[in-house]
Amino acid sequence: MEKNIIPQNYKVSVVDRRKKNKHNSLLVWFTGLSGSGKSTIANLVEQRLFEQDIATYALDGDNIRNGINKNLSFSPEDRSENIRRIAEISNLMVDAGLVVLAAFISPYKNDRENIKKIVKDVNFVEVYVNTSVEECERRDVKGLYKKARAGEIKNMTGISAPYEAPENPDIEINTENETIEQAVNKIMAYITPKLQVSNE
Ligand code: ADX
Repeated sequence: MEKNIIPQNYKVSVVDRRKKNKHNSLLVWFTGLSGSGKSTIANLVEQRLFEQDIATYALDGDNIRNGINKNLSFSPEDRSENIRRIAEISNLMVDAGLVVLAAFISPYKNDRENIKKIVKDVNFVEVYVNTSVEECERRDVKGLYKKARAGEIKNMTGISAPYEAPENPDIEINTENETIEQAVNKIMAYITPKLQVSNE
């Protein structure tokens, strides 16, 4: 930390906010290739949580890159900075008492390890949306794989840039073998005990 920066302590704490919300706050991080289904699944998980009166917020690659991170490219350095900023934003949101759903390719293992350090392991759930590049390319929902093959997009993850798959994710979803409904149920079953919802 900068030597002339002195942290301020505020009396209302994350514990108070969690108590008021009647549930724990945490970060559910979705990683996987472009078009793997991260946003679709995150969207449905958020809806389920919202229906249960859980305070949520969703952060998504395409949206964030249109705003706070619009100055970042897809170079390895900029992707790291992209993920670092999102991790810091997520950390503030977890501190604010929210359940954050974050959907980013986040292709580098190091960057994902760094998220855990920023938000602390205990508040972090890693979901690996494991859809093969062949399947993502076959679906090509945004037409980006076609452009990458034509050389119109550089550094395309899975084609001309690496994706380092998680070795030990908390949850792995294989969208080629399981339905979206099954995937959502699996995530809900994993995070529900962590939410410690109180109904007093
Ligand atoms: S990350 O690698 O830095 O984590 P992020 O999740 O923010 O990526 O953004 C990914 C989205 O940007 C993709 O879903 C896709 O729509 C778009 N995109 C544009 N160019 C690329 C590229 N070269 N590689 C991957 N995604 C790209």
